[in-house]
Parts: sequence; C-alpha cells; structure tokens
Amino acid sequence: MKLRKIYAVKLIIAGLMAIPLMVHAQAKQFTPGAIWPDNNGVHINAHGGGFLYQKGTYYWFGEHKIAGGAGNRAMVGVHCYSSKDLYNWKDEGIALPVSPDTTNDIAKGCILERPKVVYNKKTKKYVMWFHLELRGQGYKAARAGVAVSNKVTGPYTFVKSYRPNAGFMPYYPDGTPDNEKVDCTQPKNKSEGFFCRDVPGGQMARDMNVFVDDDGKAYHIFSAEENFTLDIAELNADFTGHTGKFARVYAGHQTEAPAIFKHNGTYYLIGSGTTGWDPNPARWFSAKSIWGPWTYHGNPCIGPKAELTFGGQSTYVLPVAGKKDAFIFMADKWTPKDAIDGRYLWFPVTFKGDDIEINWMENWDLNVFNN
Ligand code: GAL
Repeated sequence: MKLRKIYAVKLIIAGLMAIPLMVHAQAKQFTPGAIWPDNNGVHINAHGGGFLYQKGTYYWFGEHKIAGGAGNRAMVGVHCYSSKDLYNWKDEGIALPVSPDTTNDIAKGCILERPKVVYNKKTKKYVMWFHLELRGQGYKAARAGVAVSNKVTGPYTFVKSYRPNAGFMPYYPDGTPDNEKVDCTQPKNKSEGFFCRDVPGGQMARDMNVFVDDDGKAYHIFSAEENFTLDIAELNADFTGHTGKFARVYAGHQTEAPAIFKHNGTYYLIGSGTTGWDPNPARWFSAKSIWGPWTYHGNPCIGPKAELTFGGQSTYVLPVAGKKDAFIFMADKWTPKDAIDGRYLWFPVTFKGDDIEINWMENWDLNVFNN
C-alpha cells in the first residue's frame, strides 16, 4: 500500500517535470553551424539574412529555401522571424511572397537574394531591398529590387527592380588622385570598362546590404561591374530609390557579400571573394567617411578554416542593442545541393584598437561582450 503511494507520487512528479520539455527548450547560446530550431522546432529558413532591431525585438529576414538544388531559386519568398534575445526565434511567416504571375519581376523561380529591411522614420514605412535576378535568366539581370510595408513583418508590396544610378559618374572624396578617377573616353582596365558600359542603363547590382547612418541617411552597398567593384550608393529620403551619388570601393578586386557597420565613428566593411557558393577568405576595410577612402586590411578571421571564413560567407554585422562595442558577424554556410540545409555562423567581432578580429568559437553567448 505504502509502496504504491510512493510510486504514484513519483509518477506525478515525473509528469510535472515533463511539461517544460514539451514546450520548446529555450536556447541560451549560439552554436555556429548547427541546426537552429525556431519556436516550432523547424530549422530557421532565412539565408543571406538581414536584421532590424525595434523596441526590444530583433527581426531576421532571409531567403526562404526549399530542399534540393531548386532551393537556390526563389520558390517561396522572404521569410521573417522575431526574437527578444537573439537565441530564440519565432516564425513570423513569409514577409514578401514571390508572384505566381510568370511575367512579374519577382515571379516564382526568380533569384531573390540577401534581403535587407530598414525603417524610414519620415514615411513610417519598412523598406526591403534585395538582389533580384529575373526568372529564367541566370544571373544576367543583376538588379536591385525594393518592396515596402507598413508593418515590420509584412506583407511587403513589391515596388520595382532596376540597375541603379543610370547616367551618373562616381563621386570622389576630396583628395582623390586624378588617375583613380574613371574617364569613360579611356577606361583603364576591365572593371572601368564594365562600369562605362553600364553608365547608360545603370550599374549591375548583385550581392548587397543596406546601412542606415546615425544622421538617418541610408546607403545601398552592392557588387557592380560583373562583381569586380563594390558600389556604395546613397538612397533617397524615403529609401526607395537612388540619388545618383555613389562611390566605387576596392575597384577591380572582386568583392561580394558586403556587411557594413559603424563603431566609434569608423565605418567597417566585411566582404568575401567571388567563388559562388564555395567559401573563400573574408576581407575587411575601414574608412573615416562612408565615401572613403576605404583601406583594405585582409582577412579578419582566426581559428580553424579561418582562410575559408570558417566555411561561410558574410551576410550581416549586427550591433547588439544596449551593449557597448558589441557586434555580431553573421555568415551563411551554403549547401547548394540541398539549399534548405544552409547553416548560420555567428561570431562576436573583437576590437583590437581600431582593428577587428573574428575568432572561431564552438559555442558562445552574449556574455562575451561583458568583458
Ligand atoms: C555567391 C553570392 C550568393 C549567391 C551565389 C550564387 O557568391 O554571395 O549570394 O549569389 O554566389 O552562386
């Protein structure tokens, strides 16, 4: 009799203990390269991601990929997640769906990559930029696409896609030597040739990011000139178009996957080389003005596979809200044969004076920023 009672009590306790296990276990650290379950227990599907922080919540926008090689094309759209702590992410659904209309710029089966969302305080609208390749044309179109929404999680309405800055020549900061300026009557090399070819129709725009400066101005950073050169281009007041003011950065050296941030008045840019889905060494740059001159510094990564960006490619650098000197470097570990299985590599940015390092870590949490 007594034994039975103890057994019954034990069963009740075991039952109570199982309840929290049925709810999702809360993550308390980052494990780079691991499967990362969302609130439904499904691996987060937001590749080439961009982030927006608003009133205590982070939003993560990225390419929704499907299984297999078909997942390298946009079959669904841009996926959005939200989080209060950066470890645990809630599925907010598809923020920008692709169109079933095959004649639409963002038709299902197009290539829609690296979506980034910024908030415009004047218009009170959320503006999403992305790299767009028209359906059935491979990577030929090289366009920037833009969509807007009144609500952060969407749905976003597609506005237009085009090649930026048609008819404009680059802006040069004071002191730029004349021999560094492009003269389209005499292009000096291959990349200037591509630049001049594209002046009438606008510059090619592939891998990209968007950055909002402290003064509220926004910039679109993209791989132009057949990926030979990065352009940093000013967006207009409502963030939905280009003003025609832009600088060419690290011209002719083939940089992709730009991620930009600002720390103590210095602008930092991290990018990759151009080897498609295969990883290559990261590279970083710094500048005192967004217009440059930008100084090249080489690879910031340290640790196993540092010469391959730990197997990934940069996508974003996120300032952690409320913490000083706290920035997270974010990269994609692409799996093009089964696109949906792509993993996320997040690491803290370490400052050494004005220099930066990115150190490999097996796992880590935000307490690294408390030291
Ligand atoms: C990468 C680029 C990706 C994707 C891929 C296609 O270099 O960063 O966003 O475009 O090439 O091969």
